[in-house]
Amino acid sequence: MKIPACVAAFGAALVLAACGGGSDGESTPTPAQGGGGGAADGAALFTQNCANCHTLAAAGAKGQVGPNLDDLRPGPDLVKSQTENGGGAMPSFKGKLSPEQIQAIADYVSENAGKS
Ligand code: HEC
Repeated sequence: MKIPACVAAFGAALVLAACGGGSDGESTPTPAQGGGGGAADGAALFTQNCANCHTLAAAGAKGQVGPNLDDLRPGPDLVKSQTENGGGAMPSFKGKLSPEQIQAIADYVSENAGKS
């Protein structure tokens, strides 16, 4: 179980500054296997997997590739299905994230979109 320092310090914009960096070697981030003994952390998972492409103020995410989630305010079911299946230019995360992790992201996004 290794947690990159930048994830441990997940603090929105700081993370993007610390980890985003623009280094090309980031295409295969290790998903947090087993969640480190607690419930999957939707905020950290979002930062790791979604922030590059989506804006979500609560997570300090400023991605511009996909729709702005603060504007979209998707419900948990939409986040879940989109994350499982992908769509448009968005990849599927099935197999990369566990169902529990996808659920954690869905809950996190639906609870925080547009609320910051
Ligand atoms: C490589 C860039 C990329 C990543 C990474 C990414 N998305 Fe997306 N996302 C997109 C794009 C592009 C769309 C628009 C897809 C379309 O036009 O159908 C999208 C659409 C969505 C939608 C809206 C679906 C709809 O029907 O309106 C949601 C919700 C969403 N993404 C959530 C997430 C979550 C949660 C993650 C992390 C697990 C994530 N995305 C990661 C690019 C990305």
